[in-house]
Amino acid sequence: MGKFYKLTLCSILLLSLSLVHCIDQDPIAVEDWFKGINTMKEKITNLHFFFHDIVSGNSPTAMRVAQASSYTSLTGFGNLVMADDVLTSGPEPNSTVVGQAQGIYASASMEDLSFLMTMNLAFSDGDFNGSSLSLLGRNPVLHEYREMPIVGGSGVFRMARGIATAKTYSFNLLGDAIVEYNVVVSHY
Ligand SMILES: *[C@@H]1O[C@H](CO)[C@@H](O)[C@H](O)[C@H]1NC(C)=O
Ligand SMILES: *[C@@H]1O[C@H](CO)[C@@H](O)[C@H](O)[C@H]1NC(C)=O
Repeated sequence: MGKFYKLTLCSILLLSLSLVHCIDQDPIAVEDWFKGINTMKEKITNLHFFFHDIVSGNSPTAMRVAQASSYTSLTGFGNLVMADDVLTSGPEPNSTVVGQAQGIYASASMEDLSFLMTMNLAFSDGDFNGSSLSLLGRNPVLHEYREMPIVGGSGVFRMARGIATAKTYSFNLLGDAIVEYNVVVSHY
């Protein structure tokens, strides 16, 4: 009964809205979606947001959870940080929240300041609410632009592939940073 209602509601929604608004996560529905992939058109979506990496103060959103015990370097090699950083539409901390960047960044280079980024960008706004993108890449933070692959996604971003470009917007001496992200993904 519950399922029938859900399917019916889904079909009605499908008639009036786009598929985007009706992502059925039932495993059978997911399999059907997957089987139908050849009949779907790939589309391109651009996203623009700001990433607030707050490591200082009383309510940091990024915390060091591990570090190298026997090696110290200027690059902080081995430092591992777990983050639940806020993503907003504008650079101001009080601008509209569009999601969270949840994951790990770790200092992975002995030579320069470069992070291994493994982040889920979990969106909470508008059509993307409940959908996520998975980012896995190298982030040489002192470079103007850091290009990182988007390797997958969920919800409206199923089977996403794309590119994230990060650019530091501002930072302070305590280590807090606001980073501008432009993301372009192709998905179904
Ligand atoms: C956001 O903060 C700025 C100061 O940093 C303030 O001028 C502005 O009014 C605030 N906006 C909202 C919507 O609270
Ligand atoms: C996002 O979805 C959740 C759960 O469906 C809902 O509670 C929330 O209000 C939505 N947020 C926005 C900004 O649409």
